[in-house]
Amino acid sequence: MATATTVPGRWGGLSRLFHWGMLGLFLVIVPLGLYMADLPLSKQKLKLYALHKSIGLTLLALAALRLLWRSTQRRPSLPPMPAWQERAASATHVALYALMFLVPLAGWLFNSAAGFPLQWFGQVNLPALVDANPALKSLAREAHELGAWTLVAFVALHAAAALKHHFIDRDRTLALMTPGVKAPGTGVDP
Ligand code: HEM
Ligand code: HEM
Repeated sequence: MATATTVPGRWGGLSRLFHWGMLGLFLVIVPLGLYMADLPLSKQKLKLYALHKSIGLTLLALAALRLLWRSTQRRPSLPPMPAWQERAASATHVALYALMFLVPLAGWLFNSAAGFPLQWFGQVNLPALVDANPALKSLAREAHELGAWTLVAFVALHAAAALKHHFIDRDRTLALMTPGVKAPGTGVDP
């Protein structure tokens, strides 16, 4: 339901770029994390770890920029839907934003507590968040893994809801965020 803080139309170009660009990076970093962790120790494994961490740090920076940008934007109004669905969507968005920060920060904490160095694509050295600490290392590793799976679960729920709105309810929810997608049945932009 439209409120005073919503506007007609769809999410702007930069919001859509953040949204779909970050999805693209998540689709790389999650399988990479699962694959690399099971490899035997080798040069290749270390390269993949470095790549995983660099992409993860990029996602952390993008999450901050995205949140900053979002604070300057007004939310496009949703099509009419039951109030519980709007509340569920907002709660899911809050959880997704929280996890966009918590998961990479837990990875960084794990890396620091393990005493490993951290670089962004071999260009920028990043400081350790804490001194080496074996107990914290295990805790941060668990938090990183659990957080990553929770993020995957919320993304699946969120994507399923968006697709349900498009293909079953046939409303313009998906069109709000997706370039080239029009509201089903009307053929017009939101
Ligand atoms: C949003 C960003 C990130 C996502 C979604 C993500 C996801 C994952 C996943 C799914 C795994 C595999 C977990 C498993 O063992 O089953 C993993 C492992 C790992 N991640 Fe991340 N990660 C992210 C960012 C980072 C960052 C920023 C760092 C470090 C600065 C990092 C460091 C690691 C390390 C060291 C492992 C291997 C853990 C081990 O050896 O058991 N990750 N990550
Ligand atoms: C196939 C996967 C995805 C689909 C189909 C999808 C679809 C959508 C749609 C249609 C919207 C607009 C709904 C609205 O304005 O309330 C939206 C918004 C949003 N999506 Fe996704 N999404 C996907 C993946 C992701 C991922 C990976 C994330 C983050 C981890 C994410 C985070 C968000 C957030 C936070 C919003 C609210 C707008 C904002 O504050 O940026 N989505 N998504």
